[in-house]
Amino acid sequence: MNIKAPRGTNDILPPFSLKWQYIEKTAREIFDLYNYQEIRIPIFEYTELFQRGIGELTDIVEKEMYTFEDKSGRSITLRPEGTASVLRSFLENKIYGKAQPTKYYYMGPMFRYERPQSGRYRQFNQIGVEVFGTDDPSVDVEVISMGMHLMKALGLEELELYINSIACPECRQQYEKILKDYLNENREELCDDCKRRIDTNPLRVLDCKNKSCQGIIHNAPVITDYLCDNCQKHFDKVKKYLDLLEIDYTIDPTLVRGLDYYTNTAFEIKYSGLGAQDTIFGGGRYNGLAEEIGNKSVAGIGFAIGLERLLMTMEEQGVEFPLDSSPDLYITTIGEKAREESFVMLDNLRKAGLKAAIDYNNRSVKGQMKAADRLNANYTVIIGDNELEQGFATIRNMKSGEEKEIELADLIEEMQKLI
Ligand code: HAM
Repeated sequence: MNIKAPRGTNDILPPFSLKWQYIEKTAREIFDLYNYQEIRIPIFEYTELFQRGIGELTDIVEKEMYTFEDKSGRSITLRPEGTASVLRSFLENKIYGKAQPTKYYYMGPMFRYERPQSGRYRQFNQIGVEVFGTDDPSVDVEVISMGMHLMKALGLEELELYINSIACPECRQQYEKILKDYLNENREELCDDCKRRIDTNPLRVLDCKNKSCQGIIHNAPVITDYLCDNCQKHFDKVKKYLDLLEIDYTIDPTLVRGLDYYTNTAFEIKYSGLGAQDTIFGGGRYNGLAEEIGNKSVAGIGFAIGLERLLMTMEEQGVEFPLDSSPDLYITTIGEKAREESFVMLDNLRKAGLKAAIDYNNRSVKGQMKAADRLNANYTVIIGDNELEQGFATIRNMKSGEEKEIELADLIEEMQKLI
């Protein structure tokens, strides 16, 4: 039987996995500059965390969660995102009792039972950040700016930032009434999903990608016209700080995001070259989520980057990855005695911090040289009986072809000089 990986999952094979490592390393370096620290959260949680956190009426909770009962009959769900878990951990470990704000980042797989297509998978990977304990609009902009900084550090260009305010529950309620009336007036022109959502979650209608609904959505009343004083002030400050940092943005009043926990600032960073799944990362503020899952009032904001989409964008834009997995030295051996001595040399080279390789398949000298070439080794050294006897060997620079005779006892020192 040929067993394949489940639909919507990907194997990340070398050398491609080196690109993942490079992105993760760069993200860690950038996040460190902004004082974010890594948090590691479980891959699965009790289902009610996501039901209460993400919202019963979102696509994710309605139809995309990998939910099952464990052996003791508790309902468990593979995490479809990280925010709810990170906040759960913050509350459970009473981190709110310490000086705030708290700044976290995380990396890892998320699971959503979606229809797989380019840029959309059932197991995908996110790099996310969350800040708790401050409602200051400058933090909203710091988070956005840090995300853009990372994109720039990775060599990406032509990304577009869209922002919106989806208000506090009070002014949103008022807006939802007005939106509902408008949608009901135009009900007949909407798709079935949107018709259903008018009563359950009218804001989600604005996110419909169905062509037939676009005209109605385009002319709908916009939430930014209904902000209360506080929400308006917050939004104005966010725009001001974005201007101060000279970050370009477009206000998109139909940007509502796919999760129900957002309040005030919502944003998405897109690359139009990606096709239908063009959002590389998205996030926003969620000041009500802690109340929802832990009866505690804690302001929060964050974003999550889809790694697969980020990589697709980097490939699409022809970004060069500064990757080098090639060995410093490949030891070619002739004969059993040389092989034994070289095995010890190999061990010593590695312990001295040098990347060294050797043949394991009993290849001829020619075969070993070919293998060194395939691995893109920087240097090779051939060790046979003669070399062992005389205590000398020749190191060859594989790029320039230059050769140098050295004492075998000095191999490590010589290599350290050359690298
Ligand atoms: P999200 O918009 O659901 O937000 O996901 C963030 C990013 O994850 C998307 O922009 C996309 O790049 C990637 N993504 C989502 N679903 C898939 C999929 N099926 N296949 C491939 N990539 C996908 C969140 O998850 C929020 N937790 C973000 C956040 C953090 N908001 C505040 N803090």
